[in-house]
Amino acid sequence: MPGDQPADLSQTAIDDLVAQALTAFADAATGAELKAARLAHTGDRSPLALANRAIGTIPGPERKDAGQRLGAARAQVGRALADREAAIGAAELAQRLASERIDVTLPVELGPEGAQHPITALMDLMNDVFLDMGWEVAEGPEAEGEWLNFDALNIGPDHPARGTTDTLFVAPIENHVVLRTHTSPVQIRSMLDRPLPIYVVCPGKVYRADEFDATHVPVFHQIEGLVVDQGISLAHLKGTLDHLARSMFGEDVETRMRPHYFPFTEPSAEVDLLCFVCHGASVGNPDAPCRTCRSQGWIEWGGCGVVNPRVLAAAGIDTDLYSGFAFGMGIERTLMFRNNAADMRDMVEGDVRFSRSLKGMAR
Ligand code: DAH
Repeated sequence: MPGDQPADLSQTAIDDLVAQALTAFADAATGAELKAARLAHTGDRSPLALANRAIGTIPGPERKDAGQRLGAARAQVGRALADREAAIGAAELAQRLASERIDVTLPVELGPEGAQHPITALMDLMNDVFLDMGWEVAEGPEAEGEWLNFDALNIGPDHPARGTTDTLFVAPIENHVVLRTHTSPVQIRSMLDRPLPIYVVCPGKVYRADEFDATHVPVFHQIEGLVVDQGISLAHLKGTLDHLARSMFGEDVETRMRPHYFPFTEPSAEVDLLCFVCHGASVGNPDAPCRTCRSQGWIEWGGCGVVNPRVLAAAGIDTDLYSGFAFGMGIERTLMFRNNAADMRDMVEGDVRFSRSLKGMAR
């Protein structure tokens, strides 16, 4: 044990300890080596620390002298250690910065970016047109009672659309549940569920046993509108559709209503948009035919009409007091006209590049 021997506190011995410490610090090349040197030369069990402890055992007058000399020696060692620590710290930092340098000019692969589906975005946008006018959004199930999908809408049992070639039935057929072929059954649900007056739109999926090609898909989307109030006329319908058309296609869009037949409206019409490609110029002009409207000048957008009183009566509404109008249009069709999306298959195939190409279109 060092304490067993009297420590050598001569100046030579102290100078020697200081020299050893300074050499060890100078030789340390890394932080870890310097730490080892620090413990060896300034730690609790280092010769300088032991010498310091030994001072207490020295008699009177020599003690002060030894204390001063040792204090100066330890201070010198401390300063050398601090200097070396600073130098090594700076060198190590410089080295780390150099080795961890990032080349910000290197090409990077960004994570794939998604986008809301354009049909969803457009449905929200169409809803907003009506919500802004104080209408409500109504909903109904996609697997719908046959009665609601057809009978309540005055579509009789022999109507051709009710056959299994056009309509998808949920097995077994005797349960009379179909995948709704249009959003119109939500008209009946709204009339049965809601107090009068009614101002609702219902966007949603519909199903038909249809082809899958550029202009037909067996699952698509419609938006249905229904108003039941006192004093409602065809003029309100026309004004509403024009407002929707302007909101979708811009102020200068032109619409027309062409007489048609739907069992649930009377009178009924189809709403057409002036062809956005030829603007009607192809009509009667074989030199400049238009593929988009097949040289008709107009493109069908949806159906509409004044609600047939038989439909109101089926929902228990007093037809002497109330009348209504309704309309239904395809969302895919609207997207085709509005954003020049020519092929409906793009809308169901789920390639995110299609969604990305129309990202932000709803604004
Ligand atoms: N349900 C019709 C269809 O799918 C569209 C339609 C026509 C809806 C006239 C209506 C309407 O509300 O009044 O072809």
